[in-house]
Amino acid sequence: MRPTRRTVLTSAGAAAAGSLVGASGSLAAPVPVEPVADPVVLGPATDVPVGGGKVYSTEMVVVTQPVAGDFRAFTSTCTHWGCQVTAVEDDQIICRCHGSRFSATDGSVTVGPATLPLSPKTVITKDGQIILS
Ligand code: FES
Repeated sequence: MRPTRRTVLTSAGAAAAGSLVGASGSLAAPVPVEPVADPVVLGPATDVPVGGGKVYSTEMVVVTQPVAGDFRAFTSTCTHWGCQVTAVEDDQIICRCHGSRFSATDGSVTVGPATLPLSPKTVITKDGQIILS
């Protein structure tokens, strides 16, 4: 027996309704989980001079040591237009794109045009190595 136009439309509607029920049931179930980054060994702590710092361009982080044994870390992406900072001199992190400078102690802007601080990162030292976590 050949289906009528009405039979076909009714069947399609029922299938769509079933899909919606299934879809709405699956929306509430999964809970997104934030991925946790594995710690990264940056290198020997001796690479970061007291009163200076080092830029780890691959990891996009700059590590400073304002006082002996006190390591600080910040994103190496300048908050002005997004260039990578390139150096740490005189307790300041330097972006050579437009001349912004940031405190090596807390990442705050010391010289513009940047207006926002560098975001802090977490580092620890273990067995003489700096580890980004
Ligand atoms: Fe760093 Fe402009 S991008 S000063």
